[in-house]
Amino acid sequence: MQSMKAIEIPARGGGLRLVDRPVPQPGSGEVRIKVEACGICHGEVMAMEGHHPRIQYPRVPGHEIVGILDEVGGAVSGWPVGTRVGVGWSGGRGEVTGLTRDGGYAEYTLAYPEALVRIPDALSPVAAAPLLCAGVTTYTALKHSLAAMGDTVAIQGIGGLGHLALQYARHAGFYTIALSRGRSKEELALKLGAHEYVDGQAEDAAGKLQARGGARVILATAPTGRSLSDLIHALSPEGEMVVVSGGGEPMTISPAQLLNGRRTVRGWTARGASDVQEALQYSVQAGIRPMVEVFPLEQAPQAFEHMMQSEVHFRAVLTMA
Ligand SMILES: NC(=O)c1ccc[n+]([C@@H]2O[C@H](COP(=O)([O-])OP(=O)(O)OC[C@H]3O[C@@H](n4cnc5c(N)ncnc54)[C@H](OP(=O)(O)O)[C@@H]3O)[C@@H](O)[C@H]2O)c1
Ligand SMILES: [Zn+2]
Repeated sequence: MQSMKAIEIPARGGGLRLVDRPVPQPGSGEVRIKVEACGICHGEVMAMEGHHPRIQYPRVPGHEIVGILDEVGGAVSGWPVGTRVGVGWSGGRGEVTGLTRDGGYAEYTLAYPEALVRIPDALSPVAAAPLLCAGVTTYTALKHSLAAMGDTVAIQGIGGLGHLALQYARHAGFYTIALSRGRSKEELALKLGAHEYVDGQAEDAAGKLQARGGARVILATAPTGRSLSDLIHALSPEGEMVVVSGGGEPMTISPAQLLNGRRTVRGWTARGASDVQEALQYSVQAGIRPMVEVFPLEQAPQAFEHMMQSEVHFRAVLTMA
């Protein structure tokens, strides 16, 4: 049996390790993808920490998968071998890619056709991969937010999601503010489209935003609930905080913070393949591309750690030999 290289999580809390596995065979109603690139998302923490009732180990993580269809099982039509496809978080049929089914930190992976999107020719595999989760999440979060052209929109946390959100916000005509920590990301954030940059460690972020009348929308991407509480004060009257981050710490919000100005806090996740296809199309049309650091598959543990330290500019992407 042909074998492949893969990175798997051996057990809950067990980190990542390089293994040889048999190349998986697609069953009826499945396809096999020869993976070209897979982004590393902070959401992988869910697989590593076992935050899902149906997770089983060992598990291959990775839900920003781009590759070529190399085998198509029976009962699949409309997806010929050779098509460049992508798979995001939603694996189809109630499955979650890289969580309840093996994902893309591997040379080959299986997918259901319901989860597939077509990768536009204008995007390289490495440029497309981050759009399959980070891109679609922030694109749809902003599209369905209350913000209209000219409104002030703040993006909190400038990482994989945040750096794409800056670009979508700027392109949508919002006055775009990057909320980060320290000044190391300032130059790049301004280049990506932020009109202003606020260092939340040295500056009073809420005060700075209130000087502009408050933010109509704050898109919270930093994986920590604690820092969000103070930011409620940075919203304009009737403003909303859209939370896409999934950090473990609870958010503490007093009723008064919501009542003063009738503010809203809500969570957001993108839907399945149709949202992803739309985000890809919009990104091509708008000229929006992720800024990536590329690592070979074998270096996934180091790349993951680099992301956890908030040091990646801005999405780590694995490529297969
Ligand atoms: N809702 C969804 O569907 C969805 C989809 C994908 C990901 N997510 C979640 O979104 C979050 C971000 O994912 P990502 O892939 O963009 O992660 P990432 O690349 O690690 O970026 C997160 C950014 O948040 C800031 N940050 C990190 N730790 C922090 C801390 N302890 N306190 C304050 N700020 C901190 C950092 O930006 P600065 O250096 O600028 O502060 C960091 O670059 C994760 O929680 C992930 O699980 C949700
Ligand atoms: Zn993700």
